[in-house]
Amino acid sequence: MHFKRLTGFVLVLMGIPAPAVLAKPIFGFGEMLNGIKKTLNQLADVGLMDLADSIQDEVKDLLNGVFPGSPGQPFPAELLHFLTYTAEFASASYCDGIFVVGRKTQCKDPFCPTVTKGNVLTEAYFANKGSADTTGIVALDATTKAIVVAYRGSQSIRNWFTNAKIETKPMPEWCPGCEVHVGFLDAFQEEQTTVVDSVTRLMKNYPGYKLVVTGHSLGGAIATVAATDLRKRGFQVSLVTYGSPRVGNEALAKFISASKPNFRVTHLNEPVPRLPPLTLGYRHVEPEYHIFKGDYPIGPSDIKVYSGTVNFEGNTGFGGVTSFNFTAHRHYLLPTKLSACDDSMRQGIEFKI
Ligand SMILES: *[C@@H]1O[C@H](CO)[C@@H](O)[C@H](O)[C@H]1NC(C)=O
Repeated sequence: MHFKRLTGFVLVLMGIPAPAVLAKPIFGFGEMLNGIKKTLNQLADVGLMDLADSIQDEVKDLLNGVFPGSPGQPFPAELLHFLTYTAEFASASYCDGIFVVGRKTQCKDPFCPTVTKGNVLTEAYFANKGSADTTGIVALDATTKAIVVAYRGSQSIRNWFTNAKIETKPMPEWCPGCEVHVGFLDAFQEEQTTVVDSVTRLMKNYPGYKLVVTGHSLGGAIATVAATDLRKRGFQVSLVTYGSPRVGNEALAKFISASKPNFRVTHLNEPVPRLPPLTLGYRHVEPEYHIFKGDYPIGPSDIKVYSGTVNFEGNTGFGGVTSFNFTAHRHYLLPTKLSACDDSMRQGIEFKI
């Protein structure tokens, strides 16, 4: 159906003469053509045609070796339990509608089994009806002695990458030259008071507890902004994101990366961490924990650790920059999809992330 438009579009997309493409040994031409057709169809399906243009520059940069890759390091096996447990909180944040402040934090089975079994209380619950739809919980986990802030992903990817929200705002109060995605900042600020007040009270009442901020997809982006804000207020934060988009420019990515620990988890060649594009100046928090196996269960040898605010060896270039796996966006470490709780309550929303 898209074929006619695509054949005319392929070379525009590449922005480089076909012979130059053919001369590169990286892709077979047919394979590349198929990859591009598939990607454009997928982007069109989720309303992201605007972004197709940006991809051409990233393909060019990759072919020209502008962005270096550096090899992945082995994954420290002892981290797997922590990252899997935290993924349950990211998953739990999709079970909004069943949280009651002061009651146990739990999911419909089987979306966060360990959290449900543990001694975990919902201390704050927010579901903002504003434009950013910021939703999540602050939980007090007496089992692991942690205070966990978890942000849910949003309903539609489209709202976040096709309008003015993709612009950046300077944040000199964070660091000189820091710029952040306006939409993610707005989303955080919608519930800033609730989260900051709750964390401040809990950290005072539970000395020795660890503070963990997490989220999946757009929730991961909001978590990154939240962690930065909380660190600025003097809190020591462990930031754990799953399939997070890029949140700001190089200065911000470096600034956040310097405040450890950060665990930015990505999966195969899923598309969301490749957005917004590098060509708009967006860069990632490092290190990246890249899961290069498709399906559950994931073991320590299925993950590699990548450094750099751009590294084509991880998710950014995995399988070629023009190949995307949308299914992989929903699968992170758990046997169920991270957004599964929401899926089970609200059917039929297209490409929910
Ligand atoms: C895409 O991701 C899903 C879920 O992780 C996986 O089952 C599938 O094998 C992946 N597809 C490819 C072509 O890698």
